[in-house]
Amino acid sequence: MKSLSILLPLAAVALVSGIAACTSAPAVESPAHLWADNCQRCHNLRPPDTYDDAGWHLVLAHMRVRAYLTEPEAQAILEFLQAGN
Ligand code: HEC
Repeated sequence: MKSLSILLPLAAVALVSGIAACTSAPAVESPAHLWADNCQRCHNLRPPDTYDDAGWHLVLAHMRVRAYLTEPEAQAILEFLQAGN
């Protein structure tokens, strides 16, 4: 998929800049709710300790597309999963 190679570096940049921006970001659904709402539509939820940080980064790059998540939503879920592994 062509767009993935564009999204991956963008995701890396967002990871770094997103942390600094999060205090001023508009209120979004909590990461835990985003995860529960979006990530068990097609399969059971995999617990956060299923993968290490790099593993979740890769999973979200793929599942973000499947779940039609916005970048901030995908980022929130990624950080939530990485914080719990
Ligand atoms: C539209 C359906 C769909 C949605 C929504 C979806 N997934 Fe998936 N997911 C799949 C399919 C299909 C597979 C298996 C095939 C593949 O790897 O692409 C999969 C595989 C996975 C795997 C690998 C599981 C394994 O045992 O190999 C993980 C982890 C995962 N998804 C996490 C997520 C997360 C986190 C989200 C939410 C951001 C999510 N998925 C949303 C369809 C979906």
